Amino acid sequence: MEKSYFVHESSYIDEPVSIGDGTKIWHFCHIMKDSQIGQNCTLGQNVNIDSGVRLGNNVKIQNNVSVYKKVTIEDDVFCGPSVVFTNVINPRSAIPRTIDEYDSTLVKRGATVGANATIVCGITIGEHAFIGAGTVVTRAVPDYALVYGNPARQHGWMCQCGTRLELIDNFAQCNRCHREYQCHNDRLTASNQGSGLSNMRSS
Ligand SMILES: CC(C)(COP(=O)(O)OP(=O)(O)OC[C@H]1O[C@@H](n2cnc3c(N)ncnc32)[C@H](O)[C@@H]1OP(=O)(O)O)[C@@H](O)C(=O)NCCC(=O)NCCS
Ligand SMILES: [Zn+2]
Repeated sequence: MEKSYFVHESSYIDEPVSIGDGTKIWHFCHIMKDSQIGQNCTLGQNVNIDSGVRLGNNVKIQNNVSVYKKVTIEDDVFCGPSVVFTNVINPRSAIPRTIDEYDSTLVKRGATVGANATIVCGITIGEHAFIGAGTVVTRAVPDYALVYGNPARQHGWMCQCGTRLELIDNFAQCNRCHREYQCHNDRLTASNQGSGLSNMRSS
């Protein structure tokens, strides 16, 4: 039966793996056993998916990214080129760590991780959060937060569509897609949950 996904001939797939329909795996990738890759994902050149890793649907991973054990990536996440994930907080070459000593990292639905960012393990990156290029993330990032710098600091909020939001009296409306948000106790939530595309079409 013809495959419903594409793997470039230069890439290695260590079966068994699960790869969803419409996914494209480009040059020189290595997909390790027992990993799960959702539908309509794109993995650029030189991407390594460690064994047991789960990627959701519609995930885009740019060139030169290794997704290590205990890193989980939900639907619609964008990982820029050369993003670095980690999974051991205090590695020593001479002292092997067991998997129980690895820390988990969760990148939630719709988040963007900018080029060359480093994610120190044991944290959650919130839904639709935005990590600027070159950031070193050392703590949890709230939903919709825009963070950048080393160490990462929050510099505002980002709409689901990737536009910066301006908060006025704890309320924001996106200039681009018109989604509405409210801020309460330093947490942003969407007031209307309609799809961005339909929001944009109706604008
Ligand atoms: C974070 C980001 C979205 C901010 O964009 P923006 O809202 O247009 O911000 P501005 O360019 O107006 O910058 C505002 C300030 O933040 C600084 N800044 C912006 N991005 C930064 C970053 N990633 N790290 C550190 N400082 C940053 C700017 O130098 C500027 O500082 P100043 O006020 O002292 O001059 C953008 O810079 C970024 O990093 N995008 C990710 C790009 C990427 O990795 N793409 C991957 C696919 S190619
Ligand atoms: Zn928007």
